[in-house]
Amino acid sequence: MDKLPRTTEVAIIGGGVIGLAVARALALRGVRDVLVIERDRLGAESSGAAAGMLAPQAEADSADEFFHLCRGSRDLYPVFAAELLEETGIDIQLETTGTLYLGLNEEDVKELDLRYDWQSKAGLSVERLSSESARKLEPSISESVLMALRFPLDTQVENRRLIEALAASNQNRGVHLATDTSVNSVTLARGRISGLETSRGFVATERIVIAAGAWSSLLTASDESGVLPPDSALPALGIEPVRGQMLCFDSNPAIFSHVVYSPRAYVVPRRDGRLLAGSTTEHVGFDKQVTAEGVGSIHAAAMEISPGIGSLALKESWAGLRPRTPDGLPVLGAYAEIEGLFYAIGHYRNGILLAPITGELIADAVVDGATPGSLNAFAPERFAPVCVR
Ligand code: FAD
Ligand code: GLY
Repeated sequence: MDKLPRTTEVAIIGGGVIGLAVARALALRGVRDVLVIERDRLGAESSGAAAGMLAPQAEADSADEFFHLCRGSRDLYPVFAAELLEETGIDIQLETTGTLYLGLNEEDVKELDLRYDWQSKAGLSVERLSSESARKLEPSISESVLMALRFPLDTQVENRRLIEALAASNQNRGVHLATDTSVNSVTLARGRISGLETSRGFVATERIVIAAGAWSSLLTASDESGVLPPDSALPALGIEPVRGQMLCFDSNPAIFSHVVYSPRAYVVPRRDGRLLAGSTTEHVGFDKQVTAEGVGSIHAAAMEISPGIGSLALKESWAGLRPRTPDGLPVLGAYAEIEGLFYAIGHYRNGILLAPITGELIADAVVDGATPGSLNAFAPERFAPVCVR
């Protein structure tokens, strides 16, 4: 195991997709001394459990600030993927086939027609397909499909390859990646960041980015100067873990070429013949078990998309904990009351999608002190300033 540096310019807590994207963006801006601290292996949590869909349009009901953030990030992906391939030789398998969203009953059709209306009026790429046209594109979908929307620009990546590529890119750029190392607390002196207490000793730093996913609310601060009460949690949090279970089938030869959604499930075909099906949305604390009920409900909803899934071999299942804030939106940027403290948390269902833009925005905030007005909806200050544990 590498020696942990005793001092660093910027420390990032969490080696998921968000921490790694922020580290790479900082290195690209010329920050020489970046340390990512991960208590497990890189991508061990939600980022490795995800389906990798980059689908801002498929789920959006209006063009709010969150939609613009998601769409902006999706549109960064072609260059992001090409750069990662060139830097590391790792192909993150950005697919360009698009996403189909199926209407399987009258309620679904109403919901999809509303989505089609606002998106087509807003000039976004969306197509309304009859059941016959949908079945021409995806012959395996259910006979019961009434209509479908096609979102040609909503795509997917192989999120586990994305983690590998980000790790390799960071290593090439001299970022220090410390795995199997826990952050126990963040230390402050005179109201500003002074370092981190870790399982492998103290690291002095004046800038910390919190990217600890669903565990971000568990981080504590110790403040020599007494600005924070003893044993307080860090400010602006309230992150809750939301469990999502996932099934992985063997589908070789592939039965789908698009990511296919219904309002109750999604299926994601991977190049190596795996077919992922998800997911659940469960408020069960830090429990990552796969349950019989979870498997049953995903299986039933996936078979509604395509009864053919019923005869595929189930290869694997897993669960991950999505990091959710009280309003469901991410927390991005500097926390004004504590100099040197930055947040990149709460990406909930869209952390893979939002990784490139989060990297850019947080690097701007750390390096230039810039937080664009368009980020107000995601400011840390919208939550209570200090939560005493
Ligand atoms: P994580 O990946 O959870 O990383 C946080 C890291 O911090 C962890 O590795 C953890 O070990 C580490 N950590 C925590 N505390 C400490 C500490 N004290 N010291 C050191 N390290 C610490 N998003 C999409 O965009 N598209 C999808 O299709 C998609 N599908 C999903 C499907 C499922 C089933 C799930 C569960 C999620 C899905 N998501 C999807 C959401 C996405 O996975 C998350 O939003 C994203 O991974 C969050 O990334 P993160 O880096 O913030 O968190
Ligand atoms: N974005 C897919 C999920 O969170 O399940």
